[in-house]
Amino acid sequence: MRKGIILAGGTGSRLWPITRAVSKQLLPVYDKPMIYYPLSTLMLAQIRDILIITTVHEQTLFQSLLGDGSQWGIAISYATQPKPDGLAQAFVIGREFLGHDPCALILGDNIFHGDGLVEKLRVADARTTGATVFGYHVRDPERYGVAELGADGRVIGVEEKPAMPRSNYAITGLYFFDADVTSIAAGLTPSARGEYEITDVIADYLRRDALQMHLLGRGYAWLDTGTCESLLDASSFVATLEKRQGLKVSVPEEIAWREGWISDDDLRDSADAHGRGAYGAYLQMLLHRRVG
Ligand code: TTP
Repeated sequence: MRKGIILAGGTGSRLWPITRAVSKQLLPVYDKPMIYYPLSTLMLAQIRDILIITTVHEQTLFQSLLGDGSQWGIAISYATQPKPDGLAQAFVIGREFLGHDPCALILGDNIFHGDGLVEKLRVADARTTGATVFGYHVRDPERYGVAELGADGRVIGVEEKPAMPRSNYAITGLYFFDADVTSIAAGLTPSARGEYEITDVIADYLRRDALQMHLLGRGYAWLDTGTCESLLDASSFVATLEKRQGLKVSVPEEIAWREGWISDDDLRDSADAHGRGAYGAYLQMLLHRRVG
């Protein structure tokens, strides 16, 4: 079974002073904590065994928010990253957790939304060997890992934050890897900026012709929430969708309930536990109207 890792450490320095005392991933994106979004994405990919990597001093905050996951019919465990030494460190920290299973890594500040996403996730999950990444056209590729595409649309190169990007396709913060990833990550050396780079892991799969990239077209939103402006944009995006539809995005209780991982009674208990706010009312509404 594929396991999931949410990387939710980091310094969040671009959001200082907001993130001086609290993790970026605990901040609200409109009506729920940021980490609910990547968590929901993993759940939509049918991943039910999830490791959350946080800084040392913030671990207890995440534990009090998310618990052991049993309220959502999943298993959540925790590990810490003492310093933000790079995304690929997730596989070194998570080595024991992963064992010999394939995995999906998602960054704690990445939000994915769009019709057909679930199908794409399931296709990626079904591929048990090699690596699958998702490409997304962005205005400012130099901020991301960038995929260079050949004439046939296949990936022929990957570069981390290139000064002169060879395409506008950023590699998003959701990666599916087979069980080889732990040994690949263990063999990495830090880059010039001193980080264990996920792009180096992806390049390894590319060299072995084991990399697949799916493009997320313009009907998808891939938002990262690392700056005040992008955080506000993400909140506005979620608010716009939710107000128009009367349906919420990335509610773990709803996903678990629709998947049959929790019962009607469990959902009712969750709704009651959320009190009289809009989130609790939404869970109640799901039970009464059986919408969507
Ligand atoms: P970034 O946005 O690159 O870094 P950051 O969150 O520390 O923010 P800033 O650049 O403003 O200082 O990180 C992307 C995501 O990955 C974010 O959710 C934090 C997480 N992360 C880790 O958990 N460990 C790491 O070593 C790195 C580099 C990032």
